[in-house]
This record gives sequence, structure tokens and C-alpha cells, in this order.
Amino acid sequence: MVVLGIETTCDETAAAVVERPEAGPGKILSNIVLSQIAEHSAFGGVVPEIAARAHVEALDMVIAEAMAEAKIGFGALDAIAAAAGPGLIGGVIVGLTTAKAIALVNERPLIAVNHLEAHALTARLTDGTPFPYCLFLASGGHTQIVAVLGVGHYVRLGTTVDDAIGEAFDKTAKLLGLGYPGGPRVEQEALAGAADRFALPRPMLGRPHADFSLSGLKTALRLEAEKVAPLRDEDVRDLCASFQQSVVEVVADRLRAGLKIFRDRYGGPTALVAAGGVAANQAIRKALQHVAFEAGTALVVPPPALCTDNGAMIAWAGAERLALGLTDTLAVTPHARWPLDDVRGPPTPTTAASAADVGKGSAESNNEAGEPEPQ
Ligand code: KG4
Ligand code: ZN
Repeated sequence: MVVLGIETTCDETAAAVVERPEAGPGKILSNIVLSQIAEHSAFGGVVPEIAARAHVEALDMVIAEAMAEAKIGFGALDAIAAAAGPGLIGGVIVGLTTAKAIALVNERPLIAVNHLEAHALTARLTDGTPFPYCLFLASGGHTQIVAVLGVGHYVRLGTTVDDAIGEAFDKTAKLLGLGYPGGPRVEQEALAGAADRFALPRPMLGRPHADFSLSGLKTALRLEAEKVAPLRDEDVRDLCASFQQSVVEVVADRLRAGLKIFRDRYGGPTALVAAGGVAANQAIRKALQHVAFEAGTALVVPPPALCTDNGAMIAWAGAERLALGLTDTLAVTPHARWPLDDVRGPPTPTTAASAADVGKGSAESNNEAGEPEPQ
């Protein structure tokens, strides 16, 4: 099964061709990602209108490159998949409309993929991870702990009540004059900083639920920075290290809580899976390793290029859905907001989970009210 995937929900214009075998991990035939960082960096964040225009200009070329590298014609594809949300609506419209055109002209099935579902299923593309597993999704727009029970069967166990983790990294970087995107810059500065110099809070530490709150940490960091201003290089390094250390401890604690909830409801997960741009952070990866080991489960973290936004994850999610007959019509609409809990799946998960787990998971997922997401 060979699928073209298109990703345009934020500031990457991406297309990829992925092959899904009957079982086990997938094969990436091509994976082209064009970052718009240069277009947005002057503004210290993503400007939606600039993003949408840049997608329009680049997408045809990016798709052509993905097809050429995969050495495949449109007629040989089994389906065309595009991220239909959540994300910046202008970009989503560009990607989904292009996918519709390719599907219509070539008489291939269309699959409208939820961007978060694509992050959630990436561990199956890279490692063939069986269901059910516990997902930690941390990106610029989302921070969630999710029970992944099967394709289209996701139960959110925890989420952020304010800022997303990537957003907190980006705002910290902006405050300290480090530029955009902030995550990699803060991580770099933190390497040589003293993590114990500034006493920053650890929000939500020890709470039994699995939610996050990061805006208080951001405010505390700003107050500490104001106290020592004007900032020398050493101050910036120490502030980054102290901030990252606080995030690492919070993430570890929240995941311990999330894994406990998972175990109580569904039994042991097959793995703890990390996804989203923040999963590229080495200090956070190390903490996840520790938490997974404590919980007696494996840690699966896709390589950094597949943690950040890319077309391969969209193509793979499309292939997983196609395998279950979950295709869409040309009438499908783009969504700015589209919580994971609302993603449509087969009536019962085709997973390793027992029938009892399945019933429980679906019922809870239906009952959970969608909390507002930052994106
Ligand atoms: O998943 P992603 O590429 O895009 C979406 O937001 O969907 O994630 C981007 C986010 C940005 O906030 C960026 O600062 C953060 O991931 N990020 C990092 C690192 N690399 C990227 N945060 C911390 N450490 C990193 N090394
Ligand atoms: Zn993403």
C-alpha cells in the first residue's frame, strides 16, 4: 500500500511517499520538508497569512520532488492523504485542496488525516509499535498524554490548561532574545548553564491527574530575568538551564501520573511513545527514558526529523486508515480545531487490547469533553 502524504498545518510545507506492508514498520520512499523559518523569524513566531502564501507557492514543487524521489507516478498511488487540521486554517485549506485535486484527477481515494493522529501513529511507522500504547505528544501547539488504543481510538488522559510545552520554550527564547524557533536554542544554551541557579516553580507536581500548566513557569522566569537584567551571556545560559530543568521534572512527574491512569484503565502499555517537536530535546528524552524504565515499559521516540512536522507521518496515518477502509469524500472540510478524541475510527479498535479494554476506552473517549486547544 503506497500513499502520498501532504502536511501544511503550520510552518512546514511537506510531502512524502510511504509504503505500508501488511505488518510491521513502514518504508519511507521520500520525505521532503521545506521549512518556512526564514519567512517568519523576523516576526518572532509564525504569521498565518505568510504561512498560507508560502504553502501555495511551494507545495506543488515539494510534491513533485517527493514523487520524483520515490520514483513513482500519481497513478501508482493507493491513496492521497493530507492533514485536514488542526492548524492554521489557510495552510490547511491549501494542503487539503491540493490533495483533493490529485485524488480527483487520478481517481484515487482521499484521506483527511488529523495532524495529531499522525504524530500519534508515527511510532508504528518507525518501530511497528503495537497498540495499546501511551503517547506523550509535545509540540508548539499541543501538550497531551494520550492512550492510543487503535487507529481512530484515542483517549486523552492529560493536557495543558494553558501554554503548550513548545510554546513555553518559544516564549522563553523570545524573552531572552534567542530567536525563533526557541526550543533548540534554549536547549543549546542550557547545555552550559547552571540549572540550580534560579529557583523556578514545578507547576502541578505531585497532582494525581495528568494535566500540565506552564504559564506560571514562564512568568516566574520573566521575573527572575528582570531581577538580574541587563542579562549577560552567563545569565541567559543559567536561565535556560533552570527553565529546562523545571520542564524536565514536570514532564517526568506528569507522565508518571499519566502512566498510572493508563495502567489502572487499560493494563500495561506496550510502550511509552514520544512525539512532536519537543521530543527532539535530549534532556526531555533522558527523563522519558527514566520514567519508562521505572514503569517497566519500553520508550519509543522517533528520530528528530519524524518528531517535528513532516509528510511521512501524514502518509503513514493515511495508509493505516486506508487499510481499515476509512477513506473520505471530496466533501470533507478543513478544521482549525479538531481534538484527537473526535477522530473517527472503525467501530471497535483492531488492536491487541482485550474486548473489555476496548469497550471501556471507547465509552470514556465519547464522554470526554474536548478542552480548548491552543492551536
Ligand atoms: O511538532 P512541531 O514541529 O510543530 C508543531 O507545533 O506542530 O513542534 C515545534 C515545537 C516548537 O515549539 C519548537 O520550539 C519545539 O517544538 N522544539 C523543541 C526542540 N525542537 C523543537 N523544544 C525543546 N527542545 C528542542 N530541541
Ligand atoms: Zn505537529
